[in-house]
Amino acid sequence: MSVEIIVADITTLAVDAIVNAANESLLGGGGVDGAIHRAAGPGLLAECRTLGGCPTGEARLTAGYDLPARHVIHTVGPVWRGGGAGEAALLAACYRQSLALAEAAGCDSIAFPAISTGVYGYPAGLAAAIAVREVLAWQNSGSQPGRIILCCFSEESAAAHRAAMRQHEEKSLK
Ligand code: AR6
Repeated sequence: MSVEIIVADITTLAVDAIVNAANESLLGGGGVDGAIHRAAGPGLLAECRTLGGCPTGEARLTAGYDLPARHVIHTVGPVWRGGGAGEAALLAACYRQSLALAEAAGCDSIAFPAISTGVYGYPAGLAAAIAVREVLAWQNSGSQPGRIILCCFSEESAAAHRAAMRQHEEKSLK
């Protein structure tokens, strides 16, 4: 069982599943979504077209096509509206639903980008606290995948996740 915080381009990771920070159309976009579609090739968009979109806070599984990852789990994070619009619960649901899909698909390893922290404007520290809390809770309950990677795109994002991990550990010691 492990949770790793790394700085990498998620499209390069040879894991069982990578998570895409998509939008409700599931038809592609910018940021990590654009990078995943470019690296996966047109088969991914063709499969996404059959899914009929995805509500915020939910997730959908597809194949990985030309990616080194076997699967892509598309989840739709909340747009940050100041914190009073249920954003925290929706972001937590993205992590939990993605992990549940990965477990159902028999995945041993999964990598997450920092969902909602780019175009959708979720403050990095607040989002990292939710990501860390949810993946640790998942692993502590003994569920699969046993290897969870928080794949940050910048050193700054990784620092926010490491700080969240430390805060989480301090809290659980009290
Ligand atoms: N690998 C890992 N992380 C990445 C990569 C990459 N290749 N590229 C960007 N990131 P964003 P959101 C980081 O904007 O905020 C899209 O247009 C990025 O630095 O990709 O959930 C969708 O279609 C940031 O930390 O996703 C939606 O419309 C994190 O990934 C909308 O953006 C998320 O940034 C979703 O916005």
